[in-house]
Amino acid sequence: MFLILFSVGLTTLIAYLTRHIYTYWQRKGFPYYNPNIPFGCLNSFRKGKRSFGMSIYDVYKNATADKFIGIYLMFRPALVIRDAELARDILVNNFNSFHDRGVYVDEVKDPFSANLFSLPGHKWKALRGKLAPFFTPVKLRAMFPTIKSIALRMVEHLDESFGRQNNEEIVVVEMKGLFSRFVTEVIGSVVFGLDIDSFKDPNNAFHKITESYRFPSMIFSIRNAAQMLCPQFEKLFIYFGFKHDHAEFMTDIVRQTVEHRENNNVIRRDIMQMLIQLRNTGEVNEDENYWKIDTSKKDDNSKSMSIESIASSAFLFYLAGYETSATAAAYAIFELAKNPEIREKLEMDIENNLERGKLTYEGMQNMKYLDMCFMETLRKYPALPLLNRQCTQDYPIPGTNKIIEKGTPIVISVLGLHRDAKYFPDPLKFDPERFLESNQNNDTKAYMPFGEGPRHCIAQQMGKLIVKVAVINILRNYNLEAVEEGEINFDALTVTINPKAGINVKLSKKII
Ligand code: HEM
Repeated sequence: MFLILFSVGLTTLIAYLTRHIYTYWQRKGFPYYNPNIPFGCLNSFRKGKRSFGMSIYDVYKNATADKFIGIYLMFRPALVIRDAELARDILVNNFNSFHDRGVYVDEVKDPFSANLFSLPGHKWKALRGKLAPFFTPVKLRAMFPTIKSIALRMVEHLDESFGRQNNEEIVVVEMKGLFSRFVTEVIGSVVFGLDIDSFKDPNNAFHKITESYRFPSMIFSIRNAAQMLCPQFEKLFIYFGFKHDHAEFMTDIVRQTVEHRENNNVIRRDIMQMLIQLRNTGEVNEDENYWKIDTSKKDDNSKSMSIESIASSAFLFYLAGYETSATAAAYAIFELAKNPEIREKLEMDIENNLERGKLTYEGMQNMKYLDMCFMETLRKYPALPLLNRQCTQDYPIPGTNKIIEKGTPIVISVLGLHRDAKYFPDPLKFDPERFLESNQNNDTKAYMPFGEGPRHCIAQQMGKLIVKVAVINILRNYNLEAVEEGEINFDALTVTINPKAGINVKLSKKII
């Protein structure tokens, strides 16, 4: 009898709680997406058909009139923003009410997780202030020769593949894979200070980590999504000892590099050098020519950052940089292959801004059409299809009687905004001229491929530089021809908008 009463009571309680959770938006009077219990709007994500970013894009597209719409991320009510002005209010004007991302972080049990992307509030602000000097134009100019020389190696590698295919004049190249190797090598070099040869040694350890993000297993992809959807879930994994292997691997690499540089007074113009400066003195020297390391403090405890902490920052730069930059470069080449008129104009822009036939950092700043092509690529294919924040204090939505409650996750569909004809007419058309200053054919408020506000991409200029150097080197050396004409299908398991079947383009060597 007791068992029956207990079961009935439990069932009633679960039914009550479920109803309570899944009527949250209804009770608050917000427009909402019909909840599909328990996966909310993520049913196609659960079935492995759509990525998380694409599921949110579907919500954006299907709700045609509302500026915001309530959804459920499993058991968490979250708000999808469908309006550029409101998105800017959240990201920029009212940053104080939305300064955190609300993703998984556990400084005590998993110090490796405490990075710039995940840290909340004051801790984020303090770290952002320390890392921002890494990405000034002065520092980027110092890294430019390394990026350029890796691009030349990429071209040498491609040239060899012509030889391998019996000197055939046309070779089909999968551009996403090619640029993944290029960016792995760039970031391995300018962030970690390692000389990886990604082209000759495709199975290097870095590339293996890259591949686990590019071709994730279902478990890996669920864990990734859980870091945002349900941070407590990841805490459980860590509590039971399921750490990510790469934390140890990265920390070891960084420890060895730091010891080697300190013991041998090595000077390199890269991010690792700045991380060591920061660890040893609490600041980065902003002088273009000062790259020395102060080794006067020997004791680890007297230093301002632990080895784990600089390893965690370096790994975040790698993660945040490689996939975004590689996809952007691949989509740019895909569109340039399909649009010969745009390509010719871009080739002219590049040639006109070389200095005595050479690519220079300064010359690149004058390539205005290149910049427009880059902007249009990230408009049509924003590498990160969504931005997320957590409401950190109750926020009344301007012009309405609705209040976003503290703790609510906010999701901004960048892909939705960028492909909304209201902001960018004929959104599937690749049209760099949208970004001509004199052209009113777009709404710049809705353009945010690097995010917006104080928490926007810290390395935006570095990302641009890497992608542009890659594209310039392909265009200067090869003629392009499209293999596929239609639109690209996106992968269902990755966080970025990754091409499901790669991006194949025909290349033939230019006779210079
Ligand atoms: C084309 C290349 C890139 C694109 C499209 C891109 C895009 C983004 C976006 C959309 C965000 C989120 C911004 C927000 O929430 O408002 C972000 C954040 C971030 N990105 Fe990038 N990124 C690129 C390259 C890079 C590179 C090369 C690095 C590092 C070397 C990097 C490091 C970061 C970091 C550390 C953050 C977190 C910033 C913070 O929370 O303060 N990104 N990026």
